[in-house]
Amino acid sequence: MKHKERTALLKEYYSYVKPILQSAEFKRRRSFEHHQDSVYDHSLRVSLKAFKFAHQLEKMGISISKKNVAIAGLLHDFYTRPWREKSLDPRFFKKHGFSHAADACHNAYLYFPELMNDRIEDAILRHMFPLNIKPPKYLESWMITLSDKIVSFEVFLHPSELPRYVGISKETMQKLNVRRWYHKAKELLHEI
Ligand SMILES: [Fe+2]
Ligand SMILES: [Fe+2]
Repeated sequence: MKHKERTALLKEYYSYVKPILQSAEFKRRRSFEHHQDSVYDHSLRVSLKAFKFAHQLEKMGISISKKNVAIAGLLHDFYTRPWREKSLDPRFFKKHGFSHAADACHNAYLYFPELMNDRIEDAILRHMFPLNIKPPKYLESWMITLSDKIVSFEVFLHPSELPRYVGISKETMQKLNVRRWYHKAKELLHEI
């Protein structure tokens, strides 16, 4: 992408998301840990990646709202509490991996009602597909769920984080001896 096109694209991006980036509530996500970085950094990365994807699709003649994609990307993880706190809830389907999309959507309507619409709502609510079983309805939503997975790939580079992400505590992991089973499985795979 040429410098001029990139500058124009970033200007366009900022015009869509300025109220979110300037909001104190959104800035608070700088202190929410998200695997290797903050929820703020993660959301910005997802939003920009999805926005650039959408731009490429638009250039190919595919109809997509870049504005919806930019906003949904920033708000897809706009949940109220850092996920490690939430993972203390003992109910399995209340664990962060299953519940935070609905929490983020509710919060997005609370703080940015003027920016929300049904497509952004769908993108936020369904970004955890396939963990949340309902698949995204619109192209914008698919852009968010894909970008989120690409940006979140670092989680899969640290497999010990995964059980906690879906809500299995450190203590349960120790009780189940997850590490032993992991090494056993690795040994078996080497034998095949
Ligand atoms: Fe998420
Ligand atoms: Fe995310």
